[in-house]
Amino acid sequence: MNETIETIFHRRSIRAYQPLQIREEELQEIILAGQYAPTAMGEQPWHFTVLQNPDLLEKLQLQCKALFLNSDNASLRAVASREGYHVFYHAPTLLIVSGDCKAITPLQDSLLAMENMLLAAASLGIGSCWVHSVVMLCGNDEGTAAFRSLGLGVPEGYQPHAAAVFGYSAMPWPEAEPRKPGRVNVVR
Ligand SMILES: Cc1cc2nc3c(=O)[nH]c(=O)nc-3n(C[C@H](O)[C@H](O)[C@H](O)COP(=O)(O)O)c2cc1C
Repeated sequence: MNETIETIFHRRSIRAYQPLQIREEELQEIILAGQYAPTAMGEQPWHFTVLQNPDLLEKLQLQCKALFLNSDNASLRAVASREGYHVFYHAPTLLIVSGDCKAITPLQDSLLAMENMLLAAASLGIGSCWVHSVVMLCGNDEGTAAFRSLGLGVPEGYQPHAAAVFGYSAMPWPEAEPRKPGRVNVVR
């Protein structure tokens, strides 16, 4: 198995982090890896937000947690009610990929960029976890206004499509769940 495929198998969602910022050169490599994802017609219609300010991270996670606690979805309410639950698992870095609403496929382009960054992080021994609540928060005008009030620099006309936290893991690296069988048809 080559290193790329090993990294794909090795990546896991990490939900506990050391209180230590990732190194700047690692951050830059991760973001550049994101920017090398494929995009429809090569548009690169994205904007990357790096959030490492602890006060703003906490403000955003409180907005996201409130969203879960007030959700119609009982599972989300249950998760957010857990003792000590922190939407970002106290990770020191949050990356958000936003897409240009006028682009051909901003959602797909943003998701692919994020997957590249998760894999790049895993290859560097850095943990990550997708956190969907940031995108959910921007699902209505009120949430978008709350998000934009933090002044994170997402350009007008861009919509957050993917968010994930990054940092050095403070938990044993998890085992992957077994893959579901019977999900592949080969037609020759
Ligand atoms: C679209 C999407 C949204 C997710 N949202 C969250 C989230 O809000 N919080 C979280 O802890 N994990 C989240 N995850 C991570 C999944 O729970 C995780 O990928 C899945 O359980 C498989 O585990 P693995 O990543 O370790 O392989 C999300 C994953 C995806 C793809």
